[in-house]
Amino acid sequence: MATFTLPKNSTIGQGQVFKAEPGAKDVRAFKIYRWDPDTGDNPRTDTYELDLAQTGPMVLDALIKIKNEVDSTLTFRRSCREGICGSCAMNIDGLNTLACLKPIEDVKGDVRISPLPHMPVMKDLVPDLSQIYAQYRSIEPWLKADTPAPPDEERRQSKEERAKLDGMWECILCFCCSTSCPSYWWNGDRYLGPAVLLAAYRWIADSRDEYTGERLDNLEDPFRLYRCHTIMNCTRACPKGLNPAEAIGKIKTLMVERQG
Ligand code: SF4
Ligand code: SF4
Ligand code: FES
Repeated sequence: MATFTLPKNSTIGQGQVFKAEPGAKDVRAFKIYRWDPDTGDNPRTDTYELDLAQTGPMVLDALIKIKNEVDSTLTFRRSCREGICGSCAMNIDGLNTLACLKPIEDVKGDVRISPLPHMPVMKDLVPDLSQIYAQYRSIEPWLKADTPAPPDEERRQSKEERAKLDGMWECILCFCCSTSCPSYWWNGDRYLGPAVLLAAYRWIADSRDEYTGERLDNLEDPFRLYRCHTIMNCTRACPKGLNPAEAIGKIKTLMVERQG
């Protein structure tokens, strides 16, 4: 029988435990993935005990408290702290979500935190997003039109045309969806994944854009589009309540319609 072993440096060890201060009344343990590329050591899980009575309500509040008061080496991305910038995306309690929108009280027991899955890690909770941003660029996420805009006026849309962009313009590029998609895990080098395909459809659906045919040509490929098998993890993961799987389905429908 075949046996499988993990590469030595992929196993996660036990790290340090930072105990809560004496007298803390409402103690919760945060178990956080740590990896430092400069040491060459294996990843580890550090445990930080916090008094929730002294901590803000969201998981991001806990991370900021740890960094400010307990361990300044803990590394993570964040900016807006209100679900707008997308930078605090991580895996919390087994689900990809935004740390700033995830209430600590929604997690039962220890709060386990790791980087977005199946992405190279730069340090601790910071994934390397170079590939996915290159894929985003490849769909040319900007208005493309040869007809000049009217002088001193914007390009107009009817209310109905504008409404077609609802459910897409709200995407904050957090990549919770793409990093929860099994097809993207296994074929992320060639499959564009739900976040990028949602962005692609946002421009295909824009009445002002004049490059719909070229945009569809760019996606007509066994891997870039057709690795989506409608597993729906993406839609379940989206912290903004968007539906990338539906957008992918609409691109596929347009592909069929233009052949007819
Ligand atoms: S519906 Fe498609 S994009 Fe979404 S998780 Fe499934 S395979 Fe991935
Ligand atoms: S569709 Fe949702 S989960 Fe995916 S990148 Fe956009 S906001 Fe994030
Ligand atoms: S900090 Fe901006 S989305 Fe969480």
